[in-house]
Amino acid sequence: MLPAVERFVSEMRDVCTTVDGDERWEKCRELLLKLLEDGELRKHAEDWPVGGYDGKKVDNLLFYEDPDHSFVINGLIKNPGGRAMIHDHGKAWTVYGLLRGNERIVRYREVGGADGDVGYEEIAAVECGPGEVDIVRPWEIHSEYAGDEKTVAVIIRSQRSGTFEQYRYLDDGGKEKYGGPNQVPYELG
Ligand SMILES: [Fe+2]
Repeated sequence: MLPAVERFVSEMRDVCTTVDGDERWEKCRELLLKLLEDGELRKHAEDWPVGGYDGKKVDNLLFYEDPDHSFVINGLIKNPGGRAMIHDHGKAWTVYGLLRGNERIVRYREVGGADGDVGYEEIAAVECGPGEVDIVRPWEIHSEYAGDEKTVAVIIRSQRSGTFEQYRYLDDGGKEKYGGPNQVPYELG
């Protein structure tokens, strides 16, 4: 892997053996902020493919999965104007860093919808640019909306998507369980 990523993994493994809970992911945020500054990583990211969509799920690039602490490093590339469905990450923690482009990151809360269905409403939004990092806590309902350029995100998750239960909210009401984005192995080096 790229030297900066090797360094990130080694430091994150140390963090995992020393701190837990909120503090672990705050430390992860600091490490990711540093990683996003790496010129070699930025250069490498120019070739990362935009995530496909199989009709049900989008793709995440899977760069690394830690054999002992289970955290993973993912990449997510969106076309200009691309968006994620509104969703949570179940019990997993997510540290979401933008390497390129701008996104509006929106938080929602669940509300009763029409005809007894579950709905959602927006409660907060932040604009995120290159080099910035957002922490998504367990069960936080959110989505990201790309601006008018392609966006590239580097995402650290406490465990690989597909290994925990999560939900997404449908545009016409209701929510459904789903297994998270498809994990597409991709070499980072
Ligand atoms: Fe998400």
